[in-house]
Amino acid sequence: MRIFTKLSAPLCFLFVFLCLKTAFSSSINASSFSTTHLCSHEEALALLQFKTSFSINYTASDPYLCKYYYTKPSFKTESWKEGIDCCSWDGVSCDNVTGHVIALNLSCSFLYGTFPSNSTLFFLRNLQSLNLAFNDFRHSKIPSEISQFTRLKHLDVSFSQFSGQAPGEIAHLPKLVSLKLSSYYNSFDLILETTTFKNLVHNLSEVRELKLSGVNMISINPRLFMNLSSSLTTLDLSKSVLRGNFPNSIFWFPNLKNFYLSGKRNLTIDLPSSNWNSSLQDLYLDVSDCGRRLPESIGDLKSLRSLSLGCHLEGSIPASIRNLPQLTSLDLSSNYLSGQIRPSLANLTKLRYLSLSSNLLNGTLPPWIFTLPLLEYLYLSHNQFQGQINQFRQNSLTHLDLSNNKLQGAIPNSIANLVNLSYLDLSSNHFSDLVEADMFSALQNLETIFLSDNNLSLRMNVNANFTLPKLTHVSFSSCNLSEFPNFIRHSNGLQSLVLSKNSIYGNIPQWICEKDDLQILDLSHNNLIGKIPNCLPKFLSVLNLQANYFDGNISFGFPKGCGLRNLNLHGNQMDGPLPRSLVNCSKLEVLDVGKNNIEGTFPQWLESLPDLQVLVLRSNKFHGSVQSTKESPSFLRLRVLDLSNNDFLGPLPVWYIENFKAMMDSHGEDGSPEYMKAPTRDNFYLYSLVVTWKGFNYELQGILTTLSRLNLSHNNLTGHISPSLGSLTNLEWLDLSSNELAGKIPDELVSLTQLVVLNLSNNHLVGRIPQGNQFNTFGNDSYEGNLGLCGIPLSKSCDGIGTPPSSFQEKDELWRFGWRVVVLGYGCGVVFGLLMGYLVFRIGKPKWVVSMFDGRPSQSGRKLRKARRVDVLELLI
Ligand SMILES: *[C@@H]1O[C@H](CO)[C@@H](O)[C@H](O)[C@H]1NC(C)=O
Ligand SMILES: *[C@@H]1O[C@H](CO)[C@@H](O)[C@H](O)[C@H]1NC(C)=O
Ligand SMILES: *[C@@H]1O[C@H](CO)[C@@H](O)[C@H](O)[C@H]1NC(C)=O
Ligand SMILES: *[C@@H]1O[C@H](CO)[C@@H](O)[C@H](O)[C@H]1NC(C)=O
Ligand SMILES: *[C@@H]1O[C@H](CO)[C@@H](O)[C@H](O)[C@H]1NC(C)=O
Ligand SMILES: *[C@@H]1O[C@H](CO)[C@@H](O)[C@H](O)[C@H]1NC(C)=O
Ligand SMILES: *[C@@H]1O[C@H](CO)[C@@H](O)[C@H](O)[C@H]1NC(C)=O
Ligand SMILES: *[C@@H]1O[C@H](CO)[C@@H](O)[C@H](O)[C@H]1NC(C)=O
Ligand SMILES: *[C@@H]1O[C@H](CO)[C@@H](O)[C@H](O)[C@H]1NC(C)=O
Ligand SMILES: *[C@@H]1O[C@H](CO)[C@@H](O)[C@H](O)[C@H]1NC(C)=O
Repeated sequence: MRIFTKLSAPLCFLFVFLCLKTAFSSSINASSFSTTHLCSHEEALALLQFKTSFSINYTASDPYLCKYYYTKPSFKTESWKEGIDCCSWDGVSCDNVTGHVIALNLSCSFLYGTFPSNSTLFFLRNLQSLNLAFNDFRHSKIPSEISQFTRLKHLDVSFSQFSGQAPGEIAHLPKLVSLKLSSYYNSFDLILETTTFKNLVHNLSEVRELKLSGVNMISINPRLFMNLSSSLTTLDLSKSVLRGNFPNSIFWFPNLKNFYLSGKRNLTIDLPSSNWNSSLQDLYLDVSDCGRRLPESIGDLKSLRSLSLGCHLEGSIPASIRNLPQLTSLDLSSNYLSGQIRPSLANLTKLRYLSLSSNLLNGTLPPWIFTLPLLEYLYLSHNQFQGQINQFRQNSLTHLDLSNNKLQGAIPNSIANLVNLSYLDLSSNHFSDLVEADMFSALQNLETIFLSDNNLSLRMNVNANFTLPKLTHVSFSSCNLSEFPNFIRHSNGLQSLVLSKNSIYGNIPQWICEKDDLQILDLSHNNLIGKIPNCLPKFLSVLNLQANYFDGNISFGFPKGCGLRNLNLHGNQMDGPLPRSLVNCSKLEVLDVGKNNIEGTFPQWLESLPDLQVLVLRSNKFHGSVQSTKESPSFLRLRVLDLSNNDFLGPLPVWYIENFKAMMDSHGEDGSPEYMKAPTRDNFYLYSLVVTWKGFNYELQGILTTLSRLNLSHNNLTGHISPSLGSLTNLEWLDLSSNELAGKIPDELVSLTQLVVLNLSNNHLVGRIPQGNQFNTFGNDSYEGNLGLCGIPLSKSCDGIGTPPSSFQEKDELWRFGWRVVVLGYGCGVVFGLLMGYLVFRIGKPKWVVSMFDGRPSQSGRKLRKARRVDVLELLI
């Protein structure tokens, strides 16, 4: 897929076509193999036939993974032609005496198709090495015929989309020295079951390398791994599905050099307090528990080059780490480590990668960090570091993330010397001072720059005439900008531009229109004026212009194929009707045009947007009734509908209500809540939403995919409250206040068990207030202004006998009923580790912070972040 984006599509198709043509037209002509060839006819034939059983598909070999593990993918079988000695074909190696094919290496060869169990490959009885990694065998089973390769020493079928149970025969390859079955970790498709594994462990007495990353081994007792051959040098169980306590005697295997173990589901291992095997070079653990403390004995691992531990470690970083001078990569992110970073770590002078993100570390950053001569990656985000930072004395840094700490003072001007820097994130700290933009002018490799949410004033110097050609992601939220940063003007690869919460005045500049890759444009909370240009970039998926002074007719066009997912024009001065061309944006998930002067009737034509989840039309001049003219169900995915403060009239939109499927299906309680976010690779941009509560506006910093709200208040809706509202069982918030609704409150509403806020005030409702479930938690203000209502919690009893008002504790109740609306979490973001590259990027384990409302306008939305100032409540789960 990625390669398609690089080559132009027609060229690519032509190429594929030619490849296929060659593959299929090479009919086999045995007579063309002359006797001078080393390779036997039979084997050449078998290979050619094998070749024809697959097509070539560029999506079959992931170029990133291939490059990381092997080399860039290539079309190896292209060189396989009759008439040419098969021993000289790409990927084929022969015994130079017997001429038998002994090794076949077709890793990353774009092979695509099911793997036939009668494949002619199995004629190659002399194979000693078979590598089929990174192809796409389309969920074939690994054929049991594999056991015919009795001489096989190396078998690598990793990431080649084999699935199902690995055949028992795989254990009957007694000469195997290396076995690699790793799969894509989210497929969990390849299953290794206990009997096979027991035989494998028993028979493979020579095995040195065992890679089972991503393999489903749920039925296997981790103790069985202890029966593996003592020759073992590599054991890769990263992203595997394995449960239980992994015996720590693995650390006493005499030859083990590389050990990777990860799995979040009840997988634990105790780090030993002594007697580690000192041959260990790479250690990667990402499990639910590893004994809480990192023992001092870790310093005995003299050969250690790479250490990565994420397993809820507490306490301080042991001083003995300084005794590991070979260490090039140290990743202790996403633990609960606390205290200061020790000065003694200064002699880890070979470090190229250091991540301590997402811990509870505090104190100032030690000076040695800024002098490590080879350091390329420095991730210290999401801690509690404070104080000023030193000048940088190295220029090797390529990635620097100090975000979400309490660092203060000026940004050191030596940052200007970090010419290799491609990623810079200093956001959400207390950095202050004036920053002249040309401080960054020499950073010609810069791709990402995030300075948001500090006390910085970023100034464009008059003579700042430079450009950062590789710039891709920019976030300068709350940077006191008064103008558009001109140095991004010529950054042609720009994908996200977040300039929210500044005081930029004026029109949107024309050059924005020329940023064809641009996906995220957030200019919210500025002083922008004029009309929204009609030339918005084609690939935009987020356009957030909230809280500015844009005016004029909203009818700027949305072209066919419009890719917008989130359009937020809330709080401007736009008028005219909602443009119908919005239906061209078929991916739209969030549409918020609240607080403008938009006119017209209810835009029922939005029904044709299949993914619409959030629709906010509040505080405009919409009028008429909210009814569908269609027979078919619509707005099936809508979860948030806010039509408040308009002139809608007529009865409640019962037809719609009966079809709001997303407000009905109950979600499972397990799993972390997710946020709606822009579809960028590192998920850094979260959607936000303005909500009103008790007369104040608040901005939710993340929209949970479970949020479910209906607000029809402040209109002129008449008639009864439909009992069908009771079927919207996911509703957390229901506001029908200030309408002309009459009749009883239907008892069916008692089944809204997720309801946290109910407001029916200022209508003409009568009769007894329903009792039970959430209704026992609502206070008087949910009902006031309805003179005909009676019963708890009102003091007016239905039988004329007064009941005292309930002693309702609002805050406590909100929590007791588990409000999930505004749970904000944060993680350390995605870190591309040196260790295992793309495959094992780690998202910090969630340390959920529940914040009800952050009274400030939202932060830039960059990453999942901890709410900064929590007005109402803050609670750590
Ligand atoms: C097979 O090879 C012979 C001799 O090289 C040639 O004459 C013949 O046309 C070939 N047949 C096919 C089907 O390619
Ligand atoms: C290539 O692979 C993709 C997905 O793996 C599939 O959707 C597509 O149809 C394949 N193309 C061909 C020509 O087989
Ligand atoms: C297989 O071939 C690739 C190049 O395509 C190479 O990088 C890799 O080392 C080879 N593997 C083996 C085991 O020969
Ligand atoms: C066969 O190849 C191996 C490895 O390339 C080499 O060491 C050996 O000398 C060769 N033997 C012959 C007979 O060419
Ligand atoms: C393999 O089996 C399939 C059917 O199962 C058959 O169509 C195909 O010809 C067989 N191939 C060989 C090489 O025997
Ligand atoms: C993990 O273990 C605990 C206690 O043994 C058990 O209650 C829980 O269900 C397990 N969770 C999973 C996902 O297996
Ligand atoms: C740093 O954290 C440690 C342990 O949590 C605590 O004892 C110490 O007071 C903290 N220091 C500062 C300056 O916050
Ligand atoms: C590391 O530093 C400590 C002092 O902090 C010193 O005693 C030790 O010798 C150093 N080790 C190496 C390998 O430089
Ligand atoms: C800015 O740089 C460009 C190209 O380097 C040059 O053409 C232009 O004159 C410069 N403008 C100023 C104001 O220095
Ligand atoms: C509400 O609607 C009725 C007619 O349906 C109309 O008479 C009345 O003026 C409206 N009220 C408001 C405040 O618009």
